[in-house]
Amino acid sequence: MSVSESVEAQLSAGQTMHALRLHEHGGPEQLVYETASVPPIGIGDALVRVHAASFTPTELSWPPTWEDRAGRDRRPVIPAHEVAGTVTALGYGTTGLAVGAAVYGLTDWYRDGAAAEYIAVEVRDLAPAPASLSFVEAAVVPLAGLTAWQALFDHGALSAGQTALIHGAGGGVGTFAVQLAHAAGAHVVATGREWARQLATELGADEFIDLERQRFEDVVGAVDVALDLVGGDILQRSWAVIKPGGVLVSAVEDPAASPAAPKARSVFFVVVPDRAELVELARRIEAGALRPIVGAVVPLADGRAAFETKRNTGVPGKVALQVTD
Ligand SMILES: NC(=O)c1ccc[n+]([C@@H]2O[C@H](COP(=O)([O-])OP(=O)(O)OC[C@H]3O[C@@H](n4cnc5c(N)ncnc54)[C@H](OP(=O)(O)O)[C@@H]3O)[C@@H](O)[C@H]2O)c1
Repeated sequence: MSVSESVEAQLSAGQTMHALRLHEHGGPEQLVYETASVPPIGIGDALVRVHAASFTPTELSWPPTWEDRAGRDRRPVIPAHEVAGTVTALGYGTTGLAVGAAVYGLTDWYRDGAAAEYIAVEVRDLAPAPASLSFVEAAVVPLAGLTAWQALFDHGALSAGQTALIHGAGGGVGTFAVQLAHAAGAHVVATGREWARQLATELGADEFIDLERQRFEDVVGAVDVALDLVGGDILQRSWAVIKPGGVLVSAVEDPAASPAAPKARSVFFVVVPDRAELVELARRIEAGALRPIVGAVVPLADGRAAFETKRNTGVPGKVALQVTD
């Protein structure tokens, strides 16, 4: 019996783990730290021993947190869909990763997440973790890094010499977006509250606008790509600064849904797992050209506090859940 088969057999024999779960709909107050079954692995899956995890602040309100792909209620559910850990076993039909590999990735929203000691993940959603990072640092990269990459390049087609306006630049996605846009040779105008000014500037922003003190549309010239990570009024006011031929990209809500929306190009998107993009993000991290910002680290057992922390203003970058030492 191979190592992976023996570990798999051991784990499938009803073994339990600690996990953060939700039995009832709601916010962080519904999170319970308890015992759950180690998940079974299916075709194409890896079983990953989770060392650290992360999450997006609004995910508890997203339908895929609660349902499977057929729309069936799948409670109790485990949140947090960014993982960094070690491959413990491999299911049938997996390629590209071996048992024992240190990996990171964005996991399927419609399945249980990484706020647990083990997670079953499709291998295609994983990539080798950046060797220079701790697991905690690696765990905050996948969702935020991929969202920033896909917004700027896959949807925004940002290129050198263009101007990128990034709303919410001090947060999880924004801190990656500022670095990636700067590295792409764009002129970067970052926005947020005053606390984020120094961070955004250190990460490569050429200008910073405090949204509480200035109307950005009065000071920003025309931009090629506006990336909205705030939504609402900030998103709607951004139409005014898009150049002819430019694009308004939002990860929060559909810019075109407003009846007043002009006919410029706009995109609302949901991030998708992408191994090739994770590999590229890791390459840049290893080259010292990109760094994750960890605003706080909270043990898994206090996971409710982690979600509550991110509800507060002024937490830079991402909050990580530490699962093992
Ligand atoms: N569609 C997708 O696939 C996708 C993927 C990832 C994230 N998202 C969404 O994208 C948004 C950003 O995610 P994130 O992880 O970067 O969140 P985050 O870490 O909370 O970042 C948001 C940033 O925007 C700032 N901000 C919010 N409202 C503001 C306002 N009125 N004025 C000034 N600054 C404001 C926040 O500052 P304060 O801390 O001071 O409030 C924070 O720094 C969230 O809504 C998330 O759900 C969507």
